[in-house]
Amino acid sequence: MTAVASGIAAAGGERLASLMVRGTALLGCDYAILGGAMSWVSERNLVAAMSNAGMFGVIACGAMTPALLDAEIAATKALTARPFGVNLITMHPDLMELIAVCHRHQVGHIVLAGGLPPGGSLEAVKAGGAKLIAFAPALSLAKKLIRSGVDALIIEGMEAGGHIGPVSTSVLAQEILPAVAAEVPVFVAGGIGRGEAIAGYLEMGASGVQLGTRFVCATESIAHVAFKKAFIRASARDAVASTQLDARLPVIPVRALKNSGTELFTAKQREVAQLLDEGKVEMAEAQLQIEHYWAGALRRAVIDGDIEHGSLMAGQSVGMVTREEPLADIVAQLVAEAAAALERRAA
Ligand SMILES: Cc1cc2nc3c(=O)[nH]c(=O)nc-3n(C[C@H](O)[C@H](O)[C@H](O)COP(=O)(O)O)c2cc1C
Repeated sequence: MTAVASGIAAAGGERLASLMVRGTALLGCDYAILGGAMSWVSERNLVAAMSNAGMFGVIACGAMTPALLDAEIAATKALTARPFGVNLITMHPDLMELIAVCHRHQVGHIVLAGGLPPGGSLEAVKAGGAKLIAFAPALSLAKKLIRSGVDALIIEGMEAGGHIGPVSTSVLAQEILPAVAAEVPVFVAGGIGRGEAIAGYLEMGASGVQLGTRFVCATESIAHVAFKKAFIRASARDAVASTQLDARLPVIPVRALKNSGTELFTAKQREVAQLLDEGKVEMAEAQLQIEHYWAGALRRAVIDGDIEHGSLMAGQSVGMVTREEPLADIVAQLVAEAAAALERRAA
């Protein structure tokens, strides 16, 4: 289909394709838009729909066992002939085995998330022939990862849904893109809900983008109808980062829609801190109680639809999610907006 026939501004469409070319060459897809892996949401149906729509779907391995990942990759392959990737969490106890599963299926791209890749994992990904994409939370770490041989980087700001760092996307983009974008393709993530923002980051030197929140309500997403409704109702200010009440009880910041679970979590921290003050609980036990509070909570919300006590991980772009619609329509809209923005700037 030509750019004009598909409703994409012609000159803008060409400019978009040329700005994305390093990203699309790396990924082997039409648009350098990575589907941000979302535990429980980014499974076979959504991932295949993403890749079939011309972007790049990524399976969220999350806490899956190697056998479950093996089955998920096989099922995704049955739904799409186009390339897709797998996101592995670096602290997974079976990380090396999960990498081997990806290699057995000849998965072309592995994203390592949740901290710096542990010793040997980076080499293992590359030895099996897959391209390695890693998260760079700061410029110094971006440079270190490039020296270690990563094929591409993702920089993700605190507007994003899920686990977040402390710095905004716009600041990370300004700090990191000029310094490293010439060396490896960089994908920008966090807070992107429209194509104009995609065009902006591409013009700043990004080779592509990664979006998560915007795709949760795709028709193909298996997220529970109550989870989708919560997204459609929510505005940007409802997607808040979890707060830590007591320096002794560390909380890993997660951005999610506020609900009863969020309030109870605050109460729980207060209660455990008081038990610590009174010497009624050991420090290790107290910290474990906080760490385990949200265990299984994302599954409860996404799959079971418990939107009151489950975890409603969502980014600030949730306000731009206004209805359930086919994945291909969301992609077409993002691409048309990006192309139109680029066309306007050239005029
Ligand atoms: C419901 C949900 C679950 C997520 N789970 C994961 C995950 O398992 N692994 C990961 O690396 N990122 C995870 N993320 C982050 C996304 O991959 C992506 O980077 C992020 O959503 C991009 O920002 P955005 O939400 O502003 O689009 C999750 C995000 C959401 C909204």
